[in-house]
Amino acid sequence: MIISPSILSANFLNLESDIAALNQIKDITLHLDIMDGHFVPNLTFGHGLIKAIAKINKHPMDAHLMVTNPEFYIDYFADLGIANLTFHWEAEKNALTLIKKIKTKYKSAGISIKPETNLSQVDQKILKEIDLLLIMSVSPGFGGQKFIPNAVQKIQEACELRKKLGAHFTIQVDGGINQDNAQMLFQAGADNLVAGSAIFSGNPQDYQKNVDKLRRYP
Ligand code: DX5
Ligand code: ZN
Repeated sequence: MIISPSILSANFLNLESDIAALNQIKDITLHLDIMDGHFVPNLTFGHGLIKAIAKINKHPMDAHLMVTNPEFYIDYFADLGIANLTFHWEAEKNALTLIKKIKTKYKSAGISIKPETNLSQVDQKILKEIDLLLIMSVSPGFGGQKFIPNAVQKIQEACELRKKLGAHFTIQVDGGINQDNAQMLFQAGADNLVAGSAIFSGNPQDYQKNVDKLRRYP
């Protein structure tokens, strides 16, 4: 199980120590929540901060675009060493074209669906092309929200569809994930859990233990 700490919940006054602590942890990717204040009612960070993080970070970076115009960010972020770029299916009419464009500049392309979007709405051609499917378990926009349980059924559906279509996407889940629901998500078929508040609680020396709790389900 890959765990992805969401930098949105890190200590921005001490980001260097937080990234250094994450560098000591195995099998994680760094989840970057990019919000434009338009697609979601919140603004986060952009190119400058990611560039600074990339200088010291040792993990693959995964950017989750919560923006109205995802196409713009494909070129804009292309020089940062980001491994996976995910955009919201709801934000883009030409998702297939965008996925193909992302793949020319990044190792991996993903789409994300909000809690109110059903998998059946997404064209199966898209599911065959993507490397990552992000199932949101909160409304995108803020860290620290309560987990919405309809994600569990969507994970199961995504597993079945992946098999049926011969697709290869990773199933990532994001929002409200903690040690109480992580096991259920794993059993439903999730490959990758994103977590913000559950990981960045306490001090940097606690982060390893917080990640382990999501993986080992004590
Ligand atoms: C929400 C973001 C999430 C969020 C996760 O819009 O996509 O990545 O930061 O934070 P927690 O784990 O606190 O819900
Ligand atoms: Zn996210």
